[in-house]
Amino acid sequence: MLDWSEPSAPLRRMPPPVAAPAADQAGLGAIDRGGARVSVDDKRMINCRADVNQLLPLKYKWAWEKYLAGCNNHWMPTEVSMQADIALWKSRDGLTEDERRAIKRNLGFFAASESLVANNIVLAIYRHLTNPECRQYLLRQAFEEAVHTHTFEYIVESLGLDEGELFNMYREVPSITDKAAWALKHTQHLDDPDFKTGTPAADQAFLRDLVAFYVIFEGMWFYTGFAQILSLGRRNKMVGIAEQYQYILRDESIHLNFGIDVINQIKIENPHLWTKAFQEEVRAMVREAAELEAAYGRDTMPRGFLGLNAALCETYMHFIANRRCAQLGLERVFAETENPFPWMSEAMDLKKEKNFFETRVIEYQNGGALSWE
Ligand SMILES: [Fe+2]
Ligand SMILES: [Fe+2]
Repeated sequence: MLDWSEPSAPLRRMPPPVAAPAADQAGLGAIDRGGARVSVDDKRMINCRADVNQLLPLKYKWAWEKYLAGCNNHWMPTEVSMQADIALWKSRDGLTEDERRAIKRNLGFFAASESLVANNIVLAIYRHLTNPECRQYLLRQAFEEAVHTHTFEYIVESLGLDEGELFNMYREVPSITDKAAWALKHTQHLDDPDFKTGTPAADQAFLRDLVAFYVIFEGMWFYTGFAQILSLGRRNKMVGIAEQYQYILRDESIHLNFGIDVINQIKIENPHLWTKAFQEEVRAMVREAAELEAAYGRDTMPRGFLGLNAALCETYMHFIANRRCAQLGLERVFAETENPFPWMSEAMDLKKEKNFFETRVIEYQNGGALSWE
C-alpha cells in the first residue's frame, strides 16, 4: 500500500534541477546522467521539464486512483452472452423498424468513435501531457478503448451485421460524419510532428482538443448513445448489448472525469490560458456539440419509440451540456432543465444493478487484488 502522507520533498539535499532538453518532454530524449532527482514540486501537467519517466513521487493522486479504478473494472465483451440479442434481432417482429434503425446507427457511431478516441489519446494527447501518472492512466484508457472497439467487432459478428455498413457509417451517414469531423478538426494539427506546446496559442489548442474529446465526444455524445441502448435494455430488448454498454459507460465515466481533472489542473497551473475569451470559446464548443447531437437524434429516431425520441434526447443533451460546463467552472449554456432520463444515474452506478452485474464485478474486484501469502 502506498503511503500518501509521505513527505513530498526528498530527504537528502539535491542539487537544483537542471532544465532538460526539450526532447525529454517525450521521455525518449538522451538520458540526463547528472540531472537532479524529480521532486513533486517539479511535476507539471504540460510543458514539464522534469523527467517524465519517474512515476514516483506521485503528484496527481487523482490520476493514479483513476488508473487503479480502471484496472478494478476490467471486463471483456466476449463474457457477455448474446443469445437473447441474436434471437431478437433475427425474429421478424421482435423489433420495430425504428428500433432497428436506431440500434444500427448507434452501433455505427460508437464503432468508429472508439477508434477516433483511441487514436487521439495515443497520437496526440499522450505526447503533450508531460506527467507520468497521467500517462499511466492514458495507457490504461487506451487499452479500455481497444476493449470497446472489440465490443463492436463482437456485436457485428454475433448479430451477423454488415460490417462494411457499420464501420463506414462515420463516413457515409452525414449526421455521424458531422460529429466525427467536428472533433477531428481539433486533433488534426496536434499529431503534426512540428506541433509543440509551450506558447499560449499552442497550449490553448491542446486544451481545445481535451475539451473536444473528453468533455464533448466521451462526455456528451456518448451519453445519448448510452441512453438509447439502455432505454431498450430497460424494456428487455438487446439485453446483451445493453449489458456491454453499461460496462462501457462505467469506463467512460472515469475517462470523462479524468479529462475534467486534467483540464482543471492545467487551468490551475496556467491561469493565463483560461481567459474570458477562451472560456466563451469552450462554451460555444459545448453549445455547438449539443446542436450536432440534436441533429443526430432526429436522424437516428425520426419517429421515436417507446420511452425515447429525438426531443427527449435533445433535452437530455442540454442537461448534460450544462453539467459539463459546471464541472469546468463555466456558466451553463442552456436554460436550466430537468434530467429526462433520471434512470441513467442509476445505470451509472453498477452496484445498484444487482441481478445484472453483481457476480462478475465482485469476481473481478477480488481477482484484481493479488495476495502474496
Ligand atoms: Fe470508449
Ligand atoms: Fe473513452
